[in-house]
Amino acid sequence: MRPCRFLLTGLFIIVFIFFSFSQSKNNVITIKADKPYAAIQSSMWGVFFEDINLGADGGIYAEMVKNRSFEFIKPLMGWKVEQKPFVEGAVTILNRPDNKSNPRFARIKITNAAAGSLSITNEGFRGMGVKKDLRYDFSVMCRQSSAGVKLHIELLSAKDAVIGMAVMTPAATGNDWKKEAVSFHSSETEPKAKLRIWFEGTGVIDLDMISLFPEDTWKKRPGGMRADMVQLLADLKPGFIRFPGGCIVEGMDLSNRYQWKKTIGPVEERQLMINRWNVEFPARSTPDYFQTFGLGFFEYFQLAEDIGAEPLPILNCGMACQFNTAELVPLEQLDPYVQDALDLIEFANGDVNTKWGKMRADMGHPAPFNLKMMGVGNENWGPQYLERLAVFQKAIKEKYTDFKLVTSSGTDPGGERFDLLNGELRKMKVDIIDEHYYRKPEWFLGNVSRYDSYDRNGPKIFAGEYAGHSASAATGINRSTVQAAIAEAAFLTGLERNADVVIMASYAPLFAHIDGWQWAPDLIWVDNLKSVGTVSYHVQKLYSNNKGTHVVPALLNDKPVAGQDSLYASAVLDKHTGEIIIKIVNTSLSSRTATLSVEGIKKFSSRGTMTVLSGQPDAINTLDTPFTVSPVVTTMNAKGRKLDVTVKPFSLLVIRLGIK
Ligand code: AHR
Repeated sequence: MRPCRFLLTGLFIIVFIFFSFSQSKNNVITIKADKPYAAIQSSMWGVFFEDINLGADGGIYAEMVKNRSFEFIKPLMGWKVEQKPFVEGAVTILNRPDNKSNPRFARIKITNAAAGSLSITNEGFRGMGVKKDLRYDFSVMCRQSSAGVKLHIELLSAKDAVIGMAVMTPAATGNDWKKEAVSFHSSETEPKAKLRIWFEGTGVIDLDMISLFPEDTWKKRPGGMRADMVQLLADLKPGFIRFPGGCIVEGMDLSNRYQWKKTIGPVEERQLMINRWNVEFPARSTPDYFQTFGLGFFEYFQLAEDIGAEPLPILNCGMACQFNTAELVPLEQLDPYVQDALDLIEFANGDVNTKWGKMRADMGHPAPFNLKMMGVGNENWGPQYLERLAVFQKAIKEKYTDFKLVTSSGTDPGGERFDLLNGELRKMKVDIIDEHYYRKPEWFLGNVSRYDSYDRNGPKIFAGEYAGHSASAATGINRSTVQAAIAEAAFLTGLERNADVVIMASYAPLFAHIDGWQWAPDLIWVDNLKSVGTVSYHVQKLYSNNKGTHVVPALLNDKPVAGQDSLYASAVLDKHTGEIIIKIVNTSLSSRTATLSVEGIKKFSSRGTMTVLSGQPDAINTLDTPFTVSPVVTTMNAKGRKLDVTVKPFSLLVIRLGIK
């Protein structure tokens, strides 16, 4: 062989070996199972609930009649009056002095009406979703001096076919209001049904709180919540539920702020209010969006209890939304706001002989709700926030020493506002700081190590609102991509790794109605009949359902796995089950291999599971294709203390193995 050819062949072999080696690069991730350094709070992974995107009214609150009490700004919004022949004054809206929080009602006047000559039809929230053979419970508050008017209640399909009906003959009540109820079944499944009421007879009848609920609410509670939506929350096994928001707490101005005391007691006495998301985004204006508070604070506490989540109410701190009016309560007038906070603790936890504890008991829950924490202010900022917070902090801590307060770091995870608050809140030795980030996927990847350098002895962190917002032109549900979700998954390894500092985290917003949303992306999408978890939902669920109890080091070349070779990882022990749980995220377009080397154990002790969530970067789940991207679980055997894994492109891999 000539020297030149010899050299070329040698070079080729070297290049080939190098190329082969670089293709099969193996990442050795060392997990120190004998070095747990932080307990993971049972509250770690939770949910953020806000009535945005028709999350409550038109969403989880299963009421199907929109504007049931005629209190919208336009009293007949959502209703269509039909009459043949037209008679002036057959349907009028009046006010009653005895119910200041729900004054309006409809008066129906008819004389010998022929069948169907006068009717009112409610369009529902973007239609009403009804199911074949399911029972529907209709109720109405009414009064009439003699039993002259009968109500024919009909469920109509989108094409106006009658698919369910009942007749109601309300009693004569003189001047008193009485609740009448009747139930019927739907003969069809229909996503866009309507409710028509036509009147028969002669007389005058007053109607208020016209309501229709499906039988299959969560726990079959009358006037309850949509079971499919609650189930999706329950499946997350959330550690906490934050409510009622969000900006909704702050209000556009203070008159529009959320006031919990107005959301409890009989539903017909809860005063309706415009939802601030009605007008917030002109491009997504939602003129028929109001808060009825049928889902109020009692129901939120009950929901938290049902799904095993710690309740985390957020209260207004005397400041309206600073992006809107920025209206402030003068410090010397802050007392009622602080009193609301103190009374809420009594409402949740107080003895049944206390004023507010009795109210809770009267609503059907004598046992306390065990409220342990509360947020003061949502995304409020500036010295005006700090001054008000200090008043709340003093008053609450004086009375309830161990009660924890969640405080605001503003709207962004950096910048002047954040820096001021972050510095001052630490000086105030607050319990928990709430950080929010709606950012591009790259931000999440770049911030995986954000909390590595946080003061271990300072306030704890609540990652209260986060979501990966892809820069793409996608709108609505199309924004909930694998790319965004996998970036979130990578970021969550950083939260988990820092569980000694970060004690709670929640994606936001939670729900969105496909025909009535204002903000995207969101965790769960619904229409009137169906609901779907986005890829981000599955990420949340995988973290929450594999929470473990103690975090242990997971290292690549002695460093946290935070982006080397596009890999991110964290590991926890579950001391209840005797397992190790390892989460690995690959954010690249090609597979990665890794050897997981677990130190401090004798060996893996049992069969385990491997759960993979992966997909094309732009893949999404939709209401019609809900399982395009969902976790795939396989069982596995592992021997010794090492395990070789392949991590698929754009994936989250969760491994659970027993250890000895
Ligand atoms: O989640 C939507 C909104 O985002 C919340 O209401 C607010 O807190 C944040 O700006």
